[in-house]
Amino acid sequence: MGKKTLTKADNPAETQDQMIADLADKWRDKKGSLIMALHDVQDHYGYVPRDVARKLAHELDVPLARIYEVVTFYNYFKLTPPGKHRISVCMGTACYLKGAPELIEEIESLLGVKEGQTTSDGLYQMDVVRCLGCCGLAPVLTVNEEEGDKVYAKIPRKQVAEIIAKYSKSGENEKK
Ligand code: FES
Repeated sequence: MGKKTLTKADNPAETQDQMIADLADKWRDKKGSLIMALHDVQDHYGYVPRDVARKLAHELDVPLARIYEVVTFYNYFKLTPPGKHRISVCMGTACYLKGAPELIEEIESLLGVKEGQTTSDGLYQMDVVRCLGCCGLAPVLTVNEEEGDKVYAKIPRKQVAEIIAKYSKSGENEKK
């Protein structure tokens, strides 16, 4: 939905100002305007950039602190750019029982990120998700690829490093 309102243009700064103004016009005086506008921003950028939050606060005439209250309350909103490779670990019941917490520990240890965080080089992001619908393959994690999410099934902890290594450097996965 946000992509209709937020469009690319030639002058990034001017364009962003216009985009935010259009966005504010779109949602102003509507119920839930702030959260809907933030959804558009999140959809467009993949996160809520600081300068956009500031401009949006100005346009909607709400305190910046209110924006951050909303953004930090809902997991959907992110304050940092998404990593190139999003590693999503399933923590549904089956995966939890089959060792998903260990996979998370291993990723945290190898990449130095917690849930929802992106590595400083922007290459990896780790998320924890609910049941992915393939419980028989637990524990499961997925990594986003151009064609869609690749599912890694029945992952032992020691295989995590190998999976991460596949996406290193150029970020291009060497598919087997
Ligand atoms: S619990 Fe992980 S796929 Fe269902």
